[in-house]
Amino acid sequence: DLKQIKSAEGQILRTYDPGYMNTCCCVSRISYIDGDKGILRYRGYPIEQIAERATFEETAFLLLHGELPTDSQLKEFNRSLMKHCHVHEDVKKFISSFRHDAHPMAMFAATMAVNGSLYPSSNPSIAGQDVYKDKAVRNEQILRILGQAPVIGALIHRHRSGQTINGPDESLGYTENFFNMMDKKGEVAYRPNPKLVHALDVLFILHQEHELNCSTAATRHLASSGVDVYTAIAGAIGALYGPRHGGANEAVVRMLETIGSKEEVPKFIESVKKGEKKLMGFGHRVYKNYDPRAKLIRRLADEVFDVVGREPLVEVAMELERVALSDEYFVKRKLYPNVDFYSGLIYKALGFPTDFFPILFVIPRITGWLSHWNEFLDDPDNKIVRPFQVYKGSGLRNFPSGDLKY
Ligand code: ACO
Repeated sequence: DLKQIKSAEGQILRTYDPGYMNTCCCVSRISYIDGDKGILRYRGYPIEQIAERATFEETAFLLLHGELPTDSQLKEFNRSLMKHCHVHEDVKKFISSFRHDAHPMAMFAATMAVNGSLYPSSNPSIAGQDVYKDKAVRNEQILRILGQAPVIGALIHRHRSGQTINGPDESLGYTENFFNMMDKKGEVAYRPNPKLVHALDVLFILHQEHELNCSTAATRHLASSGVDVYTAIAGAIGALYGPRHGGANEAVVRMLETIGSKEEVPKFIESVKKGEKKLMGFGHRVYKNYDPRAKLIRRLADEVFDVVGREPLVEVAMELERVALSDEYFVKRKLYPNVDFYSGLIYKALGFPTDFFPILFVIPRITGWLSHWNEFLDDPDNKIVRPFQVYKGSGLRNFPSGDLKY
């Protein structure tokens, strides 16, 4: 549907491409998607193999550096993540100033932006525009943001639920540490049960990177202005918050709760077909086939239900999927379950509050954002991102005459 914008002489000047349906804006080597075949690869490795064989930390190293780590590189990477995970005391105070009912995503985005003011010696607006030419400076920001993300998430959760802080434990892995910091004594949820830690680790891996989705494109867009990386990541968190993107996992569970039972599914599907509602967790800009991550998550759900009991809403979700996949409306438009369709049900079964689900997307996706930030800075073709518009507003007109203000 590209429309060509021509000059008065008929020369093609630009293309009009709302939503960038057909526009490539960078060369990348981080992840590969074939949306028609339902393929996703990180640095060439199929997502199915990574989910089965790697840990979050190994995958983070792979995405950031292009190759899997050796044993000693992995040890050093884990040690550095732990070294950088401690947040500034001012950040703790800032988080504690929010109301208990503030949305966790608003708190996370604001906290990340605050971080941008705490490290002036690595901020291009203060330390000079060349500061990120030094790869050691860049690497330090990467480790700090990756290391702090689960700590910030846990601090937000514990503040909202009126609990004191559980500090990070350097003897634990990334995901287990996060569970441990969320933990409330005496509750089944968040207790670092190895099977649940494994399930969350796989979920984190599946969310780490997904080429130029809305929030990753936002990271590159913001980075192109030369702003500090904390502000660029805060902007990406803002983009991910929306229900069409990372907020969909929260929206799916709210939708399933509203539908309530299997019997109500046909009525709901009819309202979707009439355009009154969206089937949240369905559809994707790139996948016109089953999202490979959704396939893996569907299987993972059973592992979690074996430990914590079956989440009753899964029956509604499975019925929705069954009805939608055999309905002409969804078949014609190639609408399949995406990553968010079943992930929320797992988070719910694990005991996370519904409005916390997008945070469980942000924490791992930070890896992808930082990998793209790094790649963008190394790209000799990088330029400030500045698309054009097609102006259809009023022609020249004179402002109404009257008294001059000054
Ligand atoms: N329910 C009902 N109809 C849908 C849905 C849906 N979830 N998604 C797309 N459609 C329909 C549209 O109405 C449109 O129909 P039309 O051709 O009759 O106008 C057609 O399918 C094409 O949809 P677009 O909106 O043009 O597709 P686009 O690529 O722009 O949007 C998006 C993709 C935003 C993901 C969309 O499918 C959607 O809103 N899905 C629900 C929200 C969701 O689950 N988001 C998470 C996506 S994955 C992620 O970001 C992590």
